[in-house]
Formats: sequence, structure tokens, C-alpha cells
Amino acid sequence: MKNTYKIIGLMSLGLLMMSHLQAQTDWGITAEQKAEELKIPFTEQNQEAGLAIFEKSCKACHSKTEIVPKNQRQLPLAPNLGCQVFQSTHTDGEIFWKITNGHIASGMPPYGTSLSDDDRWKIVSYLRTLYADYQPPTNAGEVPAGPPAEKFTGTIKSIALSLDAQTHKITAKLDAVDAEGNPAKAKNVKVSIYIKRQFGSLLLGTIKTNDNSVAVVECPVEIPADTNGNITISAAVANSSAYTSKEVKYGKKLVWKNPLDGNHLWAVSAKTPLWLKITYLSVVLIVWLVIFWSIFQLYRIYSLRER
Ligand code: HEC
Repeated sequence: MKNTYKIIGLMSLGLLMMSHLQAQTDWGITAEQKAEELKIPFTEQNQEAGLAIFEKSCKACHSKTEIVPKNQRQLPLAPNLGCQVFQSTHTDGEIFWKITNGHIASGMPPYGTSLSDDDRWKIVSYLRTLYADYQPPTNAGEVPAGPPAEKFTGTIKSIALSLDAQTHKITAKLDAVDAEGNPAKAKNVKVSIYIKRQFGSLLLGTIKTNDNSVAVVECPVEIPADTNGNITISAAVANSSAYTSKEVKYGKKLVWKNPLDGNHLWAVSAKTPLWLKITYLSVVLIVWLVIFWSIFQLYRIYSLRER
């Protein structure tokens, strides 16, 4: 009877704790903090820096930030921060302070000490790029002087890749047309350049094209090539179907050695040294001799009993 009370008591305590966990949505944000606005300029530079921090510190839990109307992930999975409900119901200050305070009970760590204020505002800048209706505050610090970098609006038709073995530089030249279909220069377009490896691709860099639609990246010297002395380089333009890949003579040619060559345990018998063969065969012979000798002795004992 006593035990039954104990069990019931423990179970209700457990349930109480669980419901407490569920109900606790207090992130410890004050009204003043909630009213705060983005404290740094909403520039591409800050957004990109924020993305880099996000990929390093947050992506492991929050995974892809896809623009979706509603967050479909359930706790304990971290929510998708590209969710439009989240974006439209949160102020800049609220996002900033959620990152700062965290919510340990449900698995969101606090970043108030491990990331600087500036870094956390950069993350907020990045997260706001996922919200088309976002209105950046007008007094968010000084916006750098000069006109904003013009964005290429045409279509990339193809990419021409080349590798200079002397300078170790990979050049990707974009062939583009503007909205009317006339040849155009593709300036400020991000190109990612890769080298194909055994498993997957090695990203050498993501570079913006210059005034002549050209992006250049350094290629590692002495990179292992295939048995013909070739490597496969490729280039892709973000958010576009333009992709090209090409085999070029470069790098350190791979010399293939037959693993069965030489004297070792996994070599074929033709490669076995003679002394080893003789030793092995003698041992086998002796073992069989002992076996037959023992059988013979047993037979002798048996025949003695008959007599
Ligand atoms: C250990 C896993 C983990 C890491 C790492 C993590 N988060 Fe979270 N985060 C969570 C979980 C789980 C929640 C949901 C908490 C809740 O709703 O109670 C969450 C919630 C949030 C929220 C609030 C979402 C909402 O709907 O209210 C924001 C904003 C956020 N995280 C931003 C970040 C940022 C920025 C980073 C990186 C600096 C980060 N998180 C790193 C697990 C994590």
C-alpha cells in the first residue's frame, strides 16, 4: 500500500515537472529589450558575417533556415528560423535577447558571453534577410559611404574554366546575357570553385566576379591527381543552373602500386619466399605425422587387449 502511494506521488511529481517544462516559455526579456532595434547597419557585409557565425555556432541544431510559412519542427528539434511566423512576431530586440539569454530548459544555449554584442547583431541581420517584409531601422549606425554594389540581374549562360599551371590560378569566366538577351558583363556574381576528390568536392572558395565577369581562385600546389595526372575542377554560380566541370592536367600524379606486390601477409603465394614455404610445409608435415603416429599407437593398445 505504502509503495503504491510512493509510485503515484513520484508519477504526479514527474508530470508536474514535465508540464512545467512545456509551459515555461519565459526567455527573460524585458519590455525595453523587446523594443530595441537593429544596432548595426543592415548591410550585405554584416549579413554575410552573421551567416558565417550562424553556420559555425547555430547550424548544428537549427540546421537549414528555409523560408517557410510555419515552423514544422517540434521540440526538442530547434525551430527553423526562416519561419515567417517567427520573423513577423519577433522584434529585433527579442531575437537578439533570445540569442543572448537562451532557454536552457528546452535546449537553446545562451550566447551572451561566448559571442560579442556585435556578433549577435550580425546574426540578427542575417536572420532578417529571410524576411522580405523586414524594415531595417533608419538609425542603425553609419552606412558605409559610396553607392551600394550593383547586383547582376541578367542570366548566366555558361562558365568557362581554366587552370594556369604556372601561376596555380583557376579562372572562371561567366558568359551572361541581360534581361533583353544581349551579351552582358556579369559583375559581382558569386562563383564557387571546387576540385573533385575521392569523396565529394573540395571547395576552394566562393568569389565575386570582377568587372570583366571573371572570378579567380588559388589552386593548391602538389594536390594529388589521378593516375593520369589530371584533376577535375568545377564551378557553380549560386542560385543559378550554371555549372561546369573540366578535367585538367595538374597536381601530383598518383602512382598506383599493386598491394599484392612485395613480401607481406596478404601477398599471393607466388611471392612467398622459399624458406617460408619449406618451414610451413615441414610444420604441417610434422603435425600430420604426430596425428598418424598417435592413431597407430591407439591401434596397438587396442590389439593388445584382444590377445
Ligand atoms: C544545442 C542546440 C542549439 C544551438 C547550438 C542553438 N540553438 Fe537556438 N534553439 C534551440 C532550441 C531547442 C530552441 C527552441 C527553444 C524553445 O522554443 O523553447 C531554440 C530557439 C532559438 C530561438 C527562438 C526561436 C523562437 O521561435 O522563439 C532563436 C532566435 C535561436 N534559437 C537562435 C539561435 C542562434 C542565433 C544560435 C547560434 C548562435 C542558436 N540558436 C544555437 C537549440 C539550439
